[in-house]
Amino acid sequence: MKPSQEDKAALPVDEVYHTALETYFDVHRKSLENPEEFWNEHANIVEWYRKWDTVLDSSNPPFYRWFKNGRINLSYNCLDRNIKNHRRNKAAYIWIGEDGSEKIVTYHGLLKRVNSLASALKNLGIKKGDRIIIYLPMIIEAPVAMLAAARIGATFSFVFGGYGAGALSERINDSGAKLVITADGSYRGGKIVELKKVVDEALQSTSSVENTIVVKRTDSPVEMVEGRDMWYHELIRGGNVFVEPESMDSNDPLFILYTSGTTGKPKGVVHSNGGYAVWVANTLKWAFDPKEDDRWWCAADIGWVTGHSYIVFAPLLLGLTSILYEGSIVYPAPDRMWEIIDHYGINLLYTSPTAIRTLMKYGDAYTKNHDLSSLRVLGSVGEPINPSAWQWYYRNIGGGKCPIIDTYWQTETGGFVISPSAGLGLPPLKPGSGTFPMPGIDPVILDRNGKEVKPGEKGYFVIRKPWPGMFLTLHNDPERFRSTYFEKYNGGYYAGDYAIRDEDGYFWLLGRADEVLNVSGHRLGTIEIENALVSSSEIAEAAVFGRPDPVRGEVIVAFVVIKDGFSTDQEMGNRIKKRIRDSLGPIYVPQEIHFVRNLPKTRSGKIMRRVVKAVALNQLPGDISTLENSVSVDEVKDAIDTFSRETGTEGRKGAVPE
Ligand code: WT7
Repeated sequence: MKPSQEDKAALPVDEVYHTALETYFDVHRKSLENPEEFWNEHANIVEWYRKWDTVLDSSNPPFYRWFKNGRINLSYNCLDRNIKNHRRNKAAYIWIGEDGSEKIVTYHGLLKRVNSLASALKNLGIKKGDRIIIYLPMIIEAPVAMLAAARIGATFSFVFGGYGAGALSERINDSGAKLVITADGSYRGGKIVELKKVVDEALQSTSSVENTIVVKRTDSPVEMVEGRDMWYHELIRGGNVFVEPESMDSNDPLFILYTSGTTGKPKGVVHSNGGYAVWVANTLKWAFDPKEDDRWWCAADIGWVTGHSYIVFAPLLLGLTSILYEGSIVYPAPDRMWEIIDHYGINLLYTSPTAIRTLMKYGDAYTKNHDLSSLRVLGSVGEPINPSAWQWYYRNIGGGKCPIIDTYWQTETGGFVISPSAGLGLPPLKPGSGTFPMPGIDPVILDRNGKEVKPGEKGYFVIRKPWPGMFLTLHNDPERFRSTYFEKYNGGYYAGDYAIRDEDGYFWLLGRADEVLNVSGHRLGTIEIENALVSSSEIAEAAVFGRPDPVRGEVIVAFVVIKDGFSTDQEMGNRIKKRIRDSLGPIYVPQEIHFVRNLPKTRSGKIMRRVVKAVALNQLPGDISTLENSVSVDEVKDAIDTFSRETGTEGRKGAVPE
């Protein structure tokens, strides 16, 4: 998406509410001029057992260490700290089941639950530094498990419930986890997903896991392996327990979150305790300006970084009341979100462009029956928000009075990087632009050779200086950490995204610059999908890319070469899809599978994915001087043309006009 003249027209947000923008620029300038002083002050947003010796240790770049020798515990900060004040009986979470059930958990109640589980984990022999996998749906036990791990210093790795057994076992193996916390099943769109079965399958190809803890949610039949599997509710029956929070070094790992990269192997992004906490709490405050009595709804899944940072840690650190909604936003009807906002009087809503576009599709009637006037600030995350979705969100949901906080960030950054700061001074908004950097962020847009591009020119988004929320390393792979992110631009952080900075200094994030797809705001590696495809005995070769999609941002398109002797019919396509669903998970299933006899390759035999994509989407294929077999290009064309004839789809007219 490129900003057109019309998109750039500033909106009259003055009529919304207005804080002088000078405050924002002043704070941002100070944060870069004197980071020591700035973070010395802002690190006090959390409580430390021991204050740091040095704000930032840059002695071993890119392994920056924030708040060196500081000691902290995040479970203490999220819970114990809040029950000592007026928030003791305040709701930490209002949990809403997909079936309409409701559970209100206060800060005090949450601490009780966390203590019970923390104690059970300790009794199972889980110690500081041990890794545990959390594979849970959107139920209260999800934040409880994260906080219990944080309390005893175990490093948790949350695996999103939409991942399949192959993806799960890969994460278990890479992290060397000793324990898995899961549920019998989860509710999604009125159906049950049987999570424990996926765990059982994953554990067949892992050896580190000693125990699993199973939450009963759906009453689905499960097989419990004697001595290995335990019911959550039986384990925590211990009554009143208190577990002393472990004093963690600021730079001890808090969690590992796997995300896709440009190779087949997911990257284990490791986040810290101290810097991460300081970052998520401050960024939520700056960007959304939450008030004590607000109800905050971050509608992401807790299994993604958005959920980690802005359903669990930041809102609890700030003592807010959060909505935790279990199910699908279109179940039982497309007004589920609006109904929840109306019923619970939500003030701050944070969701994704995909969700907005999905709901937009159903028309305005669904929003009209609900009172959305409690909303004050709206947020967006996951991908660039296209201007028409922005406008719909602004007018129909926000009633033209709520600023849209378009937050650009990544798993690696821990929290917001580019975003309007409603708490510091709201700039006139431009639909599709995240506006300006968060305090502490020093971004620049560079060309291939590391030269800064001119205003309005597209380039690579780079952050020049370290910031407290940055990840510590990649689990088990510090070299990949260094080479993927810090080698290209002279030690600066390379995010892998394209961006433009316009004449007014606004940042526009334009999407991935590497072979990573963004499907409904989920980051998926093309090579992971290709690897899963070619591991099928029928498939010889595969090329995967993203086709722009008006609702989901991108959808997955796969071109495959089937081995001799196998059919290339619909049944084969379905079989392949099922296999991907079972191994990687439903989000990875290609929307289109095309069978060809050859794929475009270089003379050295490398598949030219870029050429397949360009041909399939009717774009210019770029440099094809190294192409070995030009006949394969016609095959790709034919396959797409046949497909669009048979399915009535747009075929090679790939680009989606805004
Ligand atoms: C990638 C990060 C950040 C939490 C959810 C995704 C894209 C994210 C925006 C935005 C434009 C965005 C980028 C980024 N992205 N937010 N507001 N505007 N692009 O986390 O899975 O680590 O993906 O999502 O391409 O690199 P993630």
